[in-house]
Amino acid sequence: MKRFQVAILGFGTVGSGVYRILTENHGDLKHRESLDLTVARILVRDFTNEPNLHLAPRQLFTTCFDDIAQDENISIVVECMGGVEPARSFILRALESGKTVVTSNKEVMSKHWYEFETAAKKTGAGLYLEATVGGGIPILRTITDSMQANNISRVMGIINGTTNFILTKMSEEGKDFAEVLAQAQQLGYAEANPTADVEGYDAMYKLSILSSMAFHAHMPIDVIYREGITKLTRADFETAKLLGYEIKLLAIGKKEGNRIEVRVHPTMLKTTHPLASVRGVFNAVFLTGHAVDDIMLYGRGAGCMPTASAVVSDVIYACHAHGRHRYMTFENIPGMSDQVELVRDFRCIYCVRLKVTDQPGTMAAIADVFARHGVSLKDVLQLGEADGCSSHITFMTYEAQEFAVQAALRDISALPCVRAIESVIRAEN
Ligand code: NDP
Ligand code: HSE
Repeated sequence: MKRFQVAILGFGTVGSGVYRILTENHGDLKHRESLDLTVARILVRDFTNEPNLHLAPRQLFTTCFDDIAQDENISIVVECMGGVEPARSFILRALESGKTVVTSNKEVMSKHWYEFETAAKKTGAGLYLEATVGGGIPILRTITDSMQANNISRVMGIINGTTNFILTKMSEEGKDFAEVLAQAQQLGYAEANPTADVEGYDAMYKLSILSSMAFHAHMPIDVIYREGITKLTRADFETAKLLGYEIKLLAIGKKEGNRIEVRVHPTMLKTTHPLASVRGVFNAVFLTGHAVDDIMLYGRGAGCMPTASAVVSDVIYACHAHGRHRYMTFENIPGMSDQVELVRDFRCIYCVRLKVTDQPGTMAAIADVFARHGVSLKDVLQLGEADGCSSHITFMTYEAQEFAVQAALRDISALPCVRAIESVIRAEN
């Protein structure tokens, strides 16, 4: 029987779930894994304002990280505080003193991964991050432990539970954005600052980690194209429905040769697409490998117990790997590797909705601009306004170059018959 003492930093949604699993399943883990795992310390910010204090014995709690850093019996530190500082400093101190770190914090990992890995390699400590992507879905371990035989050419999926919860409620129940966001916060899905969710930052942090591991090249957050869901309107959902689409916040990474594109944005998907039926807090990710072809992983992408499941799985993995931890397959550097090339002018399908003056020649003038920029149109939907002199026209393009579409939109907005570009949403097959 191997014995390990664990410290938990942060006792909120995830931290309390980790404590619960480690204590409730203590006997099972001893029996099944031959591991005697004890939670020795829990770091909280302050005793008076800690709502979860009743969930563990009082003597386990501390407000002083030194109590953990200087305790030589503690060999695994689980970081569930979130944010960059002091999480970054605590993780570094733990690794520098040879303690293994397991974290659910994708923001700090995507911004300081190379620093952590350098420190971990120096002392031989482990660094584990399964819970940073996809909540309870074992997506990262699938890449490292089950898809090594493959050259992965695509990762594509829904990797933020909060926004998928919001989009589902807006699409299916016509609910208001603010009301649904408050519900996601109550359920413990949203980040401490929910702007990270709704503006796509959280998905960007996760895509940085996911694509780096899938493509074996570090993809820093600043090379990822990012757009959130805050500009989506009721009219977008109504138009999408009329055309047979759902709208999802997708994270997309594609690799062809050494060329990689990475982007996060609202995406229209045909209602028959498997990702279109992923509802609520659920996440789902497609991985495409040259040998295995497509696989899709699906599960709860956020919440206390699903995320704690991923954290505890890492703790167990770390215990078994004790003394022979593995690190990333790629050179973990601050920027992007010069072995790969970033594709900014990616190809996509576009859905463009315009408000126009309803007069002869309007449709032809707009179609002409698209044609001049080499953008081919697939579908057109026109809906008249009650006043009879304006209408909304929605164009679906065939796959086109991002830069060509942006240039076409600049010219279209200058046409006298165009009153407004109401929305531009990308679509995937
Ligand atoms: P919570 O806000 O619920 O919990 C974080 C806890 O850490 C809070 O109790 C907070 O205390 C505490 N904390 C923050 N700073 C300190 C500090 N300096 N010292 C001691 N305690 C501190 O967040 P979550 O549990 O939801 O998320 C934690 C991490 O896990 C984040 O990185 C998040 O992105 C990630 N994650 C969350 C998921 C989820 O579903 N919730 C899923 C996957 C990952 P206080 O309230 O006083 O600030
Ligand atoms: N806020 C995140 C989400 C938590 O909603 O997906 C899980 O990483």
